[in-house]
Amino acid sequence: MSPDTLQGSTIVVTGVTGQVSRPLALALARDNRVIGAARFSDEAARAELEAAGVECVPVDLVSGDVGALPADADYVLNFAVAKTNDWDRDLAANSGGLAHLMEHHRGARAFLHCSSTAVYKPDGHRVFDEGGPLGDNHGVWPFLRTYSICKIAAEGTARWGAERFDLPTTIARLSVPYGDNGGWPAIHLHMMLSGHAIPVHVNAPSVYHPLHADDILAMVPRLLAAASVPAVTVNWGGSEPVSIEEWCTYLAEVAGTEAHFEPTEQTIDSVEIDTTRMHELAGRTTVPWRDGMRRMAKALHPDRVP
Ligand SMILES: NC(=O)c1ccc[n+]([C@@H]2O[C@H](COP(=O)([O-])OP(=O)(O)OC[C@H]3O[C@@H](n4cnc5c(N)ncnc54)[C@H](OP(=O)(O)O)[C@@H]3O)[C@@H](O)[C@H]2O)c1
Repeated sequence: MSPDTLQGSTIVVTGVTGQVSRPLALALARDNRVIGAARFSDEAARAELEAAGVECVPVDLVSGDVGALPADADYVLNFAVAKTNDWDRDLAANSGGLAHLMEHHRGARAFLHCSSTAVYKPDGHRVFDEGGPLGDNHGVWPFLRTYSICKIAAEGTARWGAERFDLPTTIARLSVPYGDNGGWPAIHLHMMLSGHAIPVHVNAPSVYHPLHADDILAMVPRLLAAASVPAVTVNWGGSEPVSIEEWCTYLAEVAGTEAHFEPTEQTIDSVEIDTTRMHELAGRTTVPWRDGMRRMAKALHPDRVP
C-alpha cells in the first residue's frame, strides 16, 4: 500500500452506518472490497451501503461474536462506538468488542482504532499533545456519561491488542468530524435555524479542530501506513483550530440567521490539540474550514444557502 492510496485491498469497516465511517466506506468501496460491520439498526443506511458495493455483515460488539467477518482482511478500521449510557453494555462493546475484533483480525496488515479527543481531561485552554492528561471529559453531559471513560478503556485495549497479537495499530484521537452528512457543526446549524441558543462553556472560546470528511478519507491510508507495534497514538483533527463561537457565527451568516450563545458550566470545555505528530505522520488537512462548512450547510439546507 502506498501511504496515499488504498486499492485492491480487503477492508473491514466497523460502525459502518455511522456519521464518520459511512461516507468513508462508500468512497473506499470504489477501489476495494469493503466489508461493513454494525447491527444495522438503520436499514436505509444498509441499503445505501449495499447499493455502493459494501458487503454488510451484522455484528454486535457487545457479544463479541465477530466470526462472520473475513479473518484475512488486509486492514481494519474500527469506527464503531456504543453510547447507550449503560456502563456494562458500553464497556463490553467498546473495550471487549475491540479485543475480540483485534484477536479475529490478528493477521491484518494494520488496524486503525478511532478514538476521540474526549479522552483528554478538560484543562482550560491547554493545548493537548498525545501525552496530555486523560479524564472524564464528556461526563458533564448526562446523555453521554459513559463516553469518555469507554474511549479511554478502548485505547487501553487497543494498546494491549497491538502487542498481544503483534498487530500494527494506530489509535487516532478524532476531534470534530463533519461533512455533507452532518456532524456537531451541523447540529449547531440546525439549532440556530430552529431559534435555539448554542450552549458554550463559560471559559470561552471553545476551541476544537473540525475535520472534513474529505480529509478523513485522504488521511486514513497514511494513518494505516503509520501503524506500529507498540501502537502509535495520534491526535486527528483539522490543521486549523476553530472555536464553536467562530463556526456558529460563520454558519449563521451563511444560512441567513443569527448565532446566540448560552455560556454554561454544564457543557464540554475547549479541547485544542497539538497536531505536530499528525502532520508528521499524515500531513496537513486540505479543506479550509469555511469552505467545508459552507458545503455542509448547502448540502443540508439547500433552501437557506445560496
Ligand atoms: N461524531 C463525532 O463528533 C466524533 C467526535 C470524536 C470522535 N468520534 C469517534 O468517531 C467514531 C465514529 O463515530 P460516529 O459519530 O460516526 O458514530 P455513530 O454515528 O454514533 O455510529 C456508531 C456506529 O457504531 C455502530 N454500533 C453501535 N453499537 C454497536 C454494537 N453494539 N455493535 C456493533 N456496532 C455498533 C452503529 O451501528 P448500529 O447501531 O446499527 O449497530 C454505528 O454504525 C467513534 O469512535 C467515535 O468515538 C466521533
